[in-house]
Formats: sequence, structure tokens, C-alpha cells
Amino acid sequence: MHRAGDAWWRDATFYEVYVRSFADSDGDGVGDLDGIRERLGYLELLGVDALWLTPFFRSPMADHGYDVADPRDVDPLFGDLDAFDRLVAEAHRTGIKVTIDLVPNHTSDQHVWFQEALADPYGPARGRYIFRPGRGDGPPNNWISVFGGPAWTQVPDGQWYLHLFDPRQPDLDWTHPDVPADLERTLRFWLDRGVDGFRIDVAHGMAKPADLPDMDPRAGNKIGQHDLFDPRFDDDAVHDIHRRVRRVLDEYPGTMAVGEIWVTDAERLALYMRPDELHLGFNFRLALANYDAVALRTSIDASLDAAAIAGVPPTWTLSNHDIVREATRYGDGPLGTQRARAMALVLLGLPGVVYLYNGAELGLPNVTVPDWAIQDPKYFRSGGQNRGRDGCRVPLPWEGAEPPFGFSAGTSTWLPMPPDWAKLTVERQLEDADSTLSLYRQAIELRKTHPAFSGGELEWYGAPAGCFAYRRKGGRLVCVLNASDVPVPLPAGDILLASGAVPERRLPPNTAVWLV
Ligand code: NOJ
Repeated sequence: MHRAGDAWWRDATFYEVYVRSFADSDGDGVGDLDGIRERLGYLELLGVDALWLTPFFRSPMADHGYDVADPRDVDPLFGDLDAFDRLVAEAHRTGIKVTIDLVPNHTSDQHVWFQEALADPYGPARGRYIFRPGRGDGPPNNWISVFGGPAWTQVPDGQWYLHLFDPRQPDLDWTHPDVPADLERTLRFWLDRGVDGFRIDVAHGMAKPADLPDMDPRAGNKIGQHDLFDPRFDDDAVHDIHRRVRRVLDEYPGTMAVGEIWVTDAERLALYMRPDELHLGFNFRLALANYDAVALRTSIDASLDAAAIAGVPPTWTLSNHDIVREATRYGDGPLGTQRARAMALVLLGLPGVVYLYNGAELGLPNVTVPDWAIQDPKYFRSGGQNRGRDGCRVPLPWEGAEPPFGFSAGTSTWLPMPPDWAKLTVERQLEDADSTLSLYRQAIELRKTHPAFSGGELEWYGAPAGCFAYRRKGGRLVCVLNASDVPVPLPAGDILLASGAVPERRLPPNTAVWLV
């Protein structure tokens, strides 16, 4: 099944399926594996090369699956192992690769190891997690959880355990030999079932310095900043863990791993993609950049630098299940949509690997989820200060005039769907040549088939203030974005695709164009 030496991922378009929200086959209001399989035809039509499935493993769902109780089984909410096998087989028949999430930094508090650890204050079971005595009456150090509040929770016998995320996600101790051994088992388990690769959660987080020194509190929960002392992340020992992962993957030619690495320094980021570590590193610079020509261009340059240092293709993404959707991030209402469409061409014109987040191709906005419906632990840990990530996780609208828009055969969905999404359904957009979905379909098709997209190198063109233009050196595609508020003349070339109307060769504000 896997062809030796096949680096299919080098210019792939990946599609992130947030499993809870993609398609629900059994009517319980939560997406599942059979739901994905039943919608593979859509993904084929969209033209993506590979899927990244968010965690579908056994979990009490305290962080919607990123709290794994058994990494080698499917949670009944999402189906079972047979459903997984059916999905992989059918995706492969369709020519779509399947990559899955791997969560090595922490487990669920319901994982058998943690239950054993809790039951055994003086025994070795605690060694698989990071249990410590307190400092005075307080926790062992001043670390903050990414979800807010202290990163330590005290158990009844007085010890504290570390959790960089929710208290129901205890961090593993990677110096304990059981921990890497178990990860290898998990890798092989899924590789033997035919998966094509992994997305590694918090890939810069697993190793912690032995003395657990205090962090600079100003680093707060902004992970991956190197100007402030933050020993919670990016410890050098993490690289040995990635080497172990890579050794296993190398036994399965054609498989790959991409790390979720919130490290902004290009040199430090590049270390994760050394030849014996991860194949790719997620790069969030583009997603974090404001809608501003200079900021966007700077973020693209920084990402290209990190990839060039590492000698791997760059990866690009505008959003995922943790980030406010781009159609809202770039501005409200029609302006946000217009800009998100323009940015889709900026994204899909870039050399390397693109990750799309489900629903971006429909131009879905972020949703203001009503207080009563909020589920994200980030909301609760922050005492309501942070509204959390539910707003970008609302189920996808497929067809029909009212919620649940074909997402589910049932009537209610795990997060409520806005009634005005009737105009954004897949069904409506497939019929409309000017829809965001049609734009994405054309862009993905061109990216895959048109010779203008060949070659990994990019150069910048001069462009009017508030605009930028890059050119793919090999294939000579030119992409121009007008992020200013006045129309600008287009450079020479035929229009291959535009994110909006381009009257008389003048590119309107908030529009991008591909030229050849
Ligand atoms: C990153 C994941 O993308 C996010 O959803 C999750 O909450 C944390 N890692 C913890 O696993």
C-alpha cells in the first residue's frame, strides 16, 4: 500500500476534519467516522490529497478527544475499529490519504495509567506522570496552564501533578521507559491499519527540564515565545522523542509526521525537521498575522526561512480547530468573507504543503456560541474570560434550509448551528459558480494540475503600498493581493483565477488574483 520513497506529502493539500463537526451518520448530533466515509465524495470533489482526522480515540471528551483514555481504540461516540478500517479503505480507493492525530504530551485522567497512579501514592505508577511534592503550601512551581490557572493540581494525599492543559489531561513523564514504548505501540497499531501519517499534538511540549524551574510569568499562556523564559515548551530533550517516532515511520515507507510546533524562532523551529525527526512542522505565522500586506509578507518570509534552514517544504495554514475562523478574523460580515477569499488564493499559491480546516472552503464565519452551549474547557478554566474555541467548531452545513442542514439525521447538534447558514450550505455553494466553495475547488485543481505552480522557490515583486505580489520562480505563477483600500493596476499576465471581480485590469481592495 505504501510505496517506498514516496514523498507524496511534499506539495499536498491536506484537509483537517474536526471529527465531531464534519458529518454525523447516526443522528446523535456528533460527527463520526461513518459520517466522514459517507462524505468522501465531497472531499474528492473538493480535490484534497489527504485528511488529518482530529482524535477519535477512547476519551471522556474533557477536551473533545485531546484527552485520550485509550490511544488504540475508537471511542464509541465516533464508531469502532471496523468503521475506521472502512474509512481508510474507501479513502484510499478514492486516492485520498489518511493521517491521524497523535497526543503524546498527556493522557486523559481516565487513562488506566493515571488511575493506577492515583491509587498508588508511594508506588512506581506515579513515575509515568509528573507528580511532585508542593513548595510550601503551594504547587511545585509557578507554571501556568495553557487553558488558564495553575498547571498543577493537588491530589488528596498532598502531591501535585502537572497538566499543561486541563487538569483532566495529566502530562506524561517522557523519561519513564513505558511512555515511549507505549507510543511506539500506538504508532505501529495505526500504521498496520494503513494510516499514511500523523499530526503530533503539542510536539514541542513533551520534554520538561528535570528541575522544573519557574517560568517567567509574563510568558503566560502564549506558548512558544522565546523572548521570555518558558521552560514548559521546546526543551532540547524533545528531539530524541521525535527521533524515536521517525525510526518507526521509516519502517513504513510513504508515511509522514507533521508536528504542532508553536515555536516562532526559525532556527529553533527548523530543529524539529532535521532529517531524522519530523517530516514537516506546522507553521502558524500566516494564521497569526494580521490582514496587512507587510505583516503577511513578513510571516511568509519567516516561514520560508524556517523551512529552508530545515531543508523541508514549508507548511501553510490559515486556521484550525483552535483558531478564530479567517472569515471573522479578517473583519466582520462581507468584508471578512472577501478577505478570506483573497487569502485563500494567497495560501493556495504558495509552494509546499497546505492545511485547510474544514469549513474554510465554505467561508464559514466564527460563531458566537451562546453561554449555555459553550463546552470548551478553555472557557471554564479562564473563568469565562476567554470564550474558548467552540466558535470555530460548529458543525458543517451540508444541505437544506434549516439546522442541522444535513449534518445529522437527528434534530440537535453538539453545538447549535446558526439558522442563517442556509446560504452557506455545500448544496447551495456547489450550484453557485461564484461561491467560496467554487473558488476553492478551482484553486485546488489549478494548484494540482497547472504547470505555473511548479518549483519551490518564491520571489517578491514590487507592489503598490498595502499590496504584495509573489512569483513562483519555477512555474512563474504570480499572486497579487490588494490589502489596501484603493484599486491598483494589475501587472502583466493572464488572469488564471481571481477571488472577486477584476474590472478593467484594476485589482479592487481585498481581492487577490493569480496571473500567468
Ligand atoms: C492542541 C490541540 O490542537 C488543542 O485542540 C488541544 O486542546 C491541545 N493541543 C491539548 O491537547
